[in-house]
Amino acid sequence: MADNIVSDTSVEDKKRRRFLTGITAGFGAVGAGIALTPFVLSMQPSERAKNAGAPVSYDFSKIQPGQMVKVEWRGKPVVLLKRTEAMMLGLDKIEDRLADPTSLVSIQPAYAQNDARADANNADLLVMLGVCTHLGCSPVEKLTVGPDPEMGDDSQGGFFCPCHGSKFDLSGRVYKNVPATSNMEVPPYKYDGNVITIGEDDGRTA
Ligand code: FES
Repeated sequence: MADNIVSDTSVEDKKRRRFLTGITAGFGAVGAGIALTPFVLSMQPSERAKNAGAPVSYDFSKIQPGQMVKVEWRGKPVVLLKRTEAMMLGLDKIEDRLADPTSLVSIQPAYAQNDARADANNADLLVMLGVCTHLGCSPVEKLTVGPDPEMGDDSQGGFFCPCHGSKFDLSGRVYKNVPATSNMEVPPYKYDGNVITIGEDDGRTA
């Protein structure tokens, strides 16, 4: 299956993506707290239309702990974030600041309705639409655990939407008292070995 990577955070992957084919439009990238230059690759409109809605596959074994990749699915950025142990531990520390910590009103498959908002088989891998649930901007990743000017002094990492100031944790759960009112969406996905396919899950619930 062909990778449909549009953005990658690692220096190593910056080299690799020069060789990738069938690549779709790009998004800004930040990995492990280090800002990298965003890049954009384009696809012919006819190719884009042909692939609209098709599932997207990616070898997630390439993603190192603390690194984030974005792929495009249905014209939207999908975040693939391999969370570190510290990132996972931080999820519990700020739950009292979240509007919907148990994801009761957000969109995700049943197997991702948990604190990590991820399939338990790869709970450290966050798979999420990188789209703010307020008005659809792309939140900026804040992957460093610790004080952050936008996320606060007790930040455990997360995502900050610069459009109107919404904040989300590293599971995409929205903070209280921000413009967005629901967690970011988790799309259906499934695994086959090291390959994740986004956009289909064969109807599974676990
Ligand atoms: S679009 Fe994200 S806060 Fe408004």
